[in-house]
Amino acid sequence: MSSQDIPEENLPAEQEHAHGAVSVADEKNPFADPGLPPHEHRIQDIDERAARRSERMVALLFTVSMLATIGFIASYVAIPHDKSIFVFPIGHLSALNFALGLTLGLALFCIGAGAVHWARTLMSDVEIADERHPIEAPADVREKVHADFKQGAKESAIGRRKLIRNTMLGAVALVPLSGVMLLRDLGPLPGTKLRHTMWSKGKLLVNMNTNEPLRPSDVAVGSLTFAKPEGLEEHDENFQTEIAKAALMIVRLQPENIKDKRELEWSHEGIVAYSKICTHVGCPISLYEQQTHHVLCPCHQSTFDLSDGARVIFGPAGHALPQLRIGVNDEGYLEALGDFEEPVGPAFWERG
Ligand code: FES
Repeated sequence: MSSQDIPEENLPAEQEHAHGAVSVADEKNPFADPGLPPHEHRIQDIDERAARRSERMVALLFTVSMLATIGFIASYVAIPHDKSIFVFPIGHLSALNFALGLTLGLALFCIGAGAVHWARTLMSDVEIADERHPIEAPADVREKVHADFKQGAKESAIGRRKLIRNTMLGAVALVPLSGVMLLRDLGPLPGTKLRHTMWSKGKLLVNMNTNEPLRPSDVAVGSLTFAKPEGLEEHDENFQTEIAKAALMIVRLQPENIKDKRELEWSHEGIVAYSKICTHVGCPISLYEQQTHHVLCPCHQSTFDLSDGARVIFGPAGHALPQLRIGVNDEGYLEALGDFEEPVGPAFWERG
């Protein structure tokens, strides 16, 4: 039903400010403001039965919200937290979590939907144009502010009492220094710490699972072993900081499968040691595909080819994984022959 079909006496009185100011096109202003379109009355404004229907719908939504909240409390009390249910197409999930999520979601949705329906159908529907005004204060107000300022300065005698003025300026100038001093608490500058790890010549490669130094015979072809530097223990205060830079992946390849010349030189009998820290955003790499010699970062699927200098063959990582040069000491244990030659981890090489 449009407002044209409604008897004149049923229409609500037009409000004077329902339409914005309309300007007329002229030479100076060829694109005149057309003003607001004619106001269309809603059915609820002209038909009391429709308004009552909307009122009942809003009340129904609020009532459903109340019932859902009661359902939330009842679910919390009554459903055991180890009970699971099957919900198509999600599968098995906790009955308690499902009931709590469903009831709370319904309660909040119904409050929102009720409020929106109320506003759209029953609250005032009058369009109001709010004219914009210049933000600048009128000239007389600006003059008064200047005059007040001058008067204040005169009464404070700041020009005459130079000692007070100068000490006040000194105090105000120095006060920010307190904030600058607090910046010291951001800690000592990292210096070259980010460029180095715990690896150094002669450090043994220790198996992260068994905590035992690795021998070449411990690394089987096709296996993936994680290693840390000798002397780094889990209970050390700096364990997390150091392992985040020094964690290694050890893989044994057939030497003839190694395509990269430097990789072959830095390996020992086909055993290669690479940083475990992804060069994208630093997740620990943990998946190894022995047929292809690819390692995969689980975070964003960057894939590195360990038989070809760990170059990136897929995904967002920007650089190959850094390789650690390794050898075997007199006692037959795998050892580092130095630190990584480039900073490990994400996007640091541009700054390195
Ligand atoms: S952190 Fe490895 S792919 Fe993003």
